[in-house]
Amino acid sequence: MTKQVIADGTSLDSDLETFKDDLRKASELVVRLYGGLDRARVTPAKGRTEIASLFDEPLPEDPQPMEGILGEVEKNIFSNSTLYLTPRFLGYINTGGNQATVLGELLAAAVNQVPAKWHFSPAASEVERRVIRWIAQFIGYAPEAGGCLLSGGSAGNLVGLAVARRQKARFDAAALGMRGGLPVTVYSSQEGHASLEKGMALLGMGRNQLRKIAVRDDFTIDLEALDKQVTEDRKDGYQPICVVGNGGTTNTGTVDPLDALAEFCRKQDLWFHVDAAYGGPAAGTQAARRLFRGLDRADSVLVNPHKWLYVQAEAACILVRDSRALRDTFQVVADYLREESDADDGPLDFKDYGPQLHRSFRALKVWMTFKAYGARKLRAAIESNIEIMRYLAERIDESRDFIRLAPVPLSVVCFQYRTPDVAIHRDQKYLNGLNHQLLEALEKDGRVFLSGTKIHGKTVLRACSVNHRLRSEDVDLLLDVIREVGGSLIGKTQSA
Ligand SMILES: Cc1ncc(COP(=O)(O)O)c(C=O)c1O
Repeated sequence: MTKQVIADGTSLDSDLETFKDDLRKASELVVRLYGGLDRARVTPAKGRTEIASLFDEPLPEDPQPMEGILGEVEKNIFSNSTLYLTPRFLGYINTGGNQATVLGELLAAAVNQVPAKWHFSPAASEVERRVIRWIAQFIGYAPEAGGCLLSGGSAGNLVGLAVARRQKARFDAAALGMRGGLPVTVYSSQEGHASLEKGMALLGMGRNQLRKIAVRDDFTIDLEALDKQVTEDRKDGYQPICVVGNGGTTNTGTVDPLDALAEFCRKQDLWFHVDAAYGGPAAGTQAARRLFRGLDRADSVLVNPHKWLYVQAEAACILVRDSRALRDTFQVVADYLREESDADDGPLDFKDYGPQLHRSFRALKVWMTFKAYGARKLRAAIESNIEIMRYLAERIDESRDFIRLAPVPLSVVCFQYRTPDVAIHRDQKYLNGLNHQLLEALEKDGRVFLSGTKIHGKTVLRACSVNHRLRSEDVDLLLDVIREVGGSLIGKTQSA
């Protein structure tokens, strides 16, 4: 006798009218959030314990009405979020996002595609293939390049290092492990991103084998020091495999001399990976194009749409001139995954071009961003960010109570508040303490947000924008707020 399976009551779907109503309510919530951005605090007023208590709830066993859930999202989540959406968020390199992506995320979730294999996500795979070409074109990289979208720049650098090892190590580390040959070394400047260290550790190549090469006064890599280190390593029995050039460092936005690095790598038979996670899109602009001369000679380039293409996280992209290098690194054959042949013009099955099998349809939001705004408007927004941050640098240079500590090639400005009192300007220990306290005080104040870093051992305020909503009034306000909050700290601050 066949067993009857009773399915009634197990579907999670609402009827279509209810679903439509829920979508409407959710979109109203989004509109209220965007409508309130001008007045919103950048950081929440509540502290950690208070925010944690809002979510202190046992696992729900029974359904709760969507209206109540949406209410919680608005009251507890939206209002306790740090809003990169506002242009007064000037810390780290988090984009303000764009509205087309809000729609893209919704639609990608609705259609629920997994572009791992072409035949189970045909259109999504084609959209990803197209988006990869558009990104390469936008930044002026090889039109024949292939690649894939990834979760972020950290994953992108990991993938870049894995491909470099596959191509340049004289043994198959993927099969044999690192005991298969000589220890390999990778080179980047001292200003290279921390994710490179993570990548070295994860790939078993060892953090210590990432050689952090000294920089010159303008924070670009010292080419002589690089040459010397590679020669020494070869003499000491290491196998150099890769140089990572910076296409916009996190600290200061510095772009290394990419053309010279490309030439060095060609002569030395090294893989040339460019970490342009942040700065890459600026390579497509009039304002910054010349800084990126030589980018088109890289073997692989990392660029994050979720930074300067204004796409909400997560969306990073690794581009590889010859995409077969990616496939050589990541393809494994499993009986339960029917194999397709590749197209003549690049990847078809993205599972073979990166570390993931299940992957989200993140290409949709990037595709919609390019289509909704067009490359010209995106370039104009990037140029405006650069111009306004250079205006901030000028205002700092003209002032007596601020000092700038690094050049501003892209959209990062590193500076210290040092009070109008000239006698204090020589007391670097005091200034370090004051600027450290300022960062905390500004976060509590909530009107603007900055992150900090160290430049030549000095604690500095670091302002960075990758937000198309940024206007010069925002950076004027930034200086006013720092003066007000900084003024209230003077006298209370101990030397750090
Ligand atoms: C130059 C650079 N590389 C890599 C990364 C890591 O990117 P993600 O945060 O997307 O992992 C960042 C992040 O800020 C970066 O600035």
